[in-house]
Amino acid sequence: MPKLTINDLDVRGKRVFVRVDYNVPMEEKNGQMVINDVTRVKETLPTLERLIEKGARIILASHLGRPKGRREPSLSLRPVAACLAELIHRPVAFVDDCIGPKAEKTAEALQPGDILLLENVRFYAEEEANDLAFAGKLARLAEVYVNDAFGAAHRAHASTEGVARVVAKRGGQCVSGLLMVRELKFLGEELENPERPFVVILGGAKVSDKIKVIDRLLEKADTILIGGAMTYTFRLALGRKVGKSLVEPDRVDVASAALEKAKTRRVEFLLPGDNIVATPVDTGKLNQKGKPVIEYQNPRVNDSLDIPETEEGMDIGPRTIALYRDIIPRAQTILWNGPMGVFEDKPFSQGTMAVARAVAAATQKGAKSIIGGGDTVKALNLAGLADQVTFVSTGGGASLEFLEGKELPGVAALSDR
Ligand code: 3PG
Ligand code: MG
Repeated sequence: MPKLTINDLDVRGKRVFVRVDYNVPMEEKNGQMVINDVTRVKETLPTLERLIEKGARIILASHLGRPKGRREPSLSLRPVAACLAELIHRPVAFVDDCIGPKAEKTAEALQPGDILLLENVRFYAEEEANDLAFAGKLARLAEVYVNDAFGAAHRAHASTEGVARVVAKRGGQCVSGLLMVRELKFLGEELENPERPFVVILGGAKVSDKIKVIDRLLEKADTILIGGAMTYTFRLALGRKVGKSLVEPDRVDVASAALEKAKTRRVEFLLPGDNIVATPVDTGKLNQKGKPVIEYQNPRVNDSLDIPETEEGMDIGPRTIALYRDIIPRAQTILWNGPMGVFEDKPFSQGTMAVARAVAAATQKGAKSIIGGGDTVKALNLAGLADQVTFVSTGGGASLEFLEGKELPGVAALSDR
């Protein structure tokens, strides 16, 4: 059911509560938290600019990280307020709370076109608990509710779901922002009836993370290209040896079922025929998180479906790269989710980089390319190609759940057209 959007509303002079997903990667540098990637902030600018044009008084709310109901100074949204001010060329007010008298007073004092960013909603445990009283306190800040936080729309939390119900119940409107509209269009409508051939590229570590997406896409795609560590669970399903590769032995059945479904539906379902492998060696050291540091020695091409006992699969191999590079340009629609290998490590980045380049090249020749969230976006940025694809989702978990065909609670709560 299509939802109302900010374009449908007259918000002049109204206080508008906008849930955004400013859960951005941050890092401490010289005692200060700095933002490593501002994409999620940038992507909300069209919504904010439209609301400013319409004379709304804007109150922004977001989570950052997982503070679990505690005030965690390193997870304050204050640096994000500064970042937004710079991007939007306007002052952005900040209050160090998301509910209560101070937040209410500041919201009340906003003039049309003013922007206020509230402190991290997850400093309250009631946020993730979707506590109704807490949602009510958020709702007191505004007359209208806008959800532009696609990345958090798979969460039924107070600021993504509960508050919308409170606002709707008192007769207020709950609408989607323009980023939300774009996400739902590209990951939803565009893939419902894709222009063919429709080629899906799926990578990542686990079959368990992707199996529902695979299952659903087997009903839509012409070709599915597999990469990443989930390859090895499929190989196990085919009775192959996987050495020390990452596998999910308890998902072999699920992998077999997917291979079977691909056959019946006549979907071209391709697994890598060769790999880059390396020998993992425990250095005896622990990293910052207390996990053993593994060194990957002697990377080499393994041109076989079996991996020797002492080695681990790390990337797709040159033959697979060549094959995927042949297939990708045939596509009119491309969906890519999940890297082909451990791309953060140079010796194992070639498969992912080659796919990124092939997808960008196909886009230039007229294909529609849709990139689903998380690590894939990181890889695309690393390749410097993020602006050469049709659409890059700001959602990680949210884009996966949406591609699985699930209804997102943050979307369901919005008013129907
Ligand atoms: C994300 O980064 O995936 C979203 O902001 C959701 O965050 P969460 O997984 O902590 O709910
Ligand atoms: Mg997540």
